[in-house]
Amino acid sequence: MRIYPTFFNIFFKGMDPEKAHHVGFWGVQTLRNVGITRALRKYFQPAPELATTVMGITFPSPFGLAAGFDKGGKGIAALAGIGFGHVEIGTITGQAQPGNPQPRLFRLVEDKAVINRMGFNNDGAAAAGPRVAAARADLETEYRGAVRPVIGVNIGKTKVVELENAIDDYLISTRTLAPQADYLVVNVSSPNTPGLRTLQAIESLRPLLAAVREEADRVCPNRHVPLTVKIAPDLVDEDVIEVAALAKELKLDGIIATNTTIDKSSLGSHPLAGEQGGLSGLPVREKSNQVLKLLAERIDGKLPIIGVGGIMTGADAAEKIRLGASAVQVYSGLIYRGPELIKECLAALK
Ligand code: FNR
Repeated sequence: MRIYPTFFNIFFKGMDPEKAHHVGFWGVQTLRNVGITRALRKYFQPAPELATTVMGITFPSPFGLAAGFDKGGKGIAALAGIGFGHVEIGTITGQAQPGNPQPRLFRLVEDKAVINRMGFNNDGAAAAGPRVAAARADLETEYRGAVRPVIGVNIGKTKVVELENAIDDYLISTRTLAPQADYLVVNVSSPNTPGLRTLQAIESLRPLLAAVREEADRVCPNRHVPLTVKIAPDLVDEDVIEVAALAKELKLDGIIATNTTIDKSSLGSHPLAGEQGGLSGLPVREKSNQVLKLLAERIDGKLPIIGVGGIMTGADAAEKIRLGASAVQVYSGLIYRGPELIKECLAALK
């Protein structure tokens, strides 16, 4: 799969990044639709010994796709077919919304970085629900007798909903999506919805997480839907420690660390350093790893942590596991390294 870097340089590098995303995603879906992914499955399939149980769910491997790539759950089975042991879809909001005006996605190729201010463009919980249900049924049929890829559903706040009504908006998504999700993620850490990250403050986070937990239990009386919270790499140590304590207090099932950073100081005088949005890829790796390490110390094995941020090589994925993650996710690395990164991470984790 050394083909990808050449392909990136010829086709994607000069293309508008958002268009390149759609072309890449369309390519993965088309491979599945014409039956090639099933043939390739043997090539990408994780080794059986990589199967792992996290949050009470068995994953085919600890390696997954982070939220933001498949915002609406339109390509879950196709993405699972290229080696992701879990696909976290979203962020999905209570209401459909267009996101921010374009351009809103920027590649900083030399820095192996991405800046995005997509703003949760998605067609809302009601549209996503049936798609997730169908994908889940497909995977159950396709992987019968084997460990099937896991579907995570990441939910956030609709932009036009006032912050004081945020809980109700998260509950719309919970009600619609918890029954279809293998696990739920409350996203309070994206920098592109005004005020969203203030929900990370304990006094806002406690009632939000408690309400989502209660609603998930109400709509899924016969199944415990694991609930996690996704946090920013920009939290100061005291905040990370408070979130860890709250997660234990509320008996959350896990923490996802981390989202993108708003700190662009590592970019120096790069012409795109002034773009608003969240920075991901290599520049966020160290910050994410620091949060992961601190969380792991504080949680002391009592809660799983899913590590995400700056995985650009197999060694980076293994490092997150060494620091205390039970599973890992990528996004930006995939843009620069394509399927080769998936193979490399699976080999390193083995
Ligand atoms: C993201 N990310 C993201 N996270 C989230 O919780 N909800 C979302 O909708 C999005 N959207 C999104 C779009 C784009 C274009 C990017 C690059 C990222 C954040 C992502 O899931 C991940 O946490 C960070 O990007 C850090 O990981 P990487 O990219 O360094 O591997």
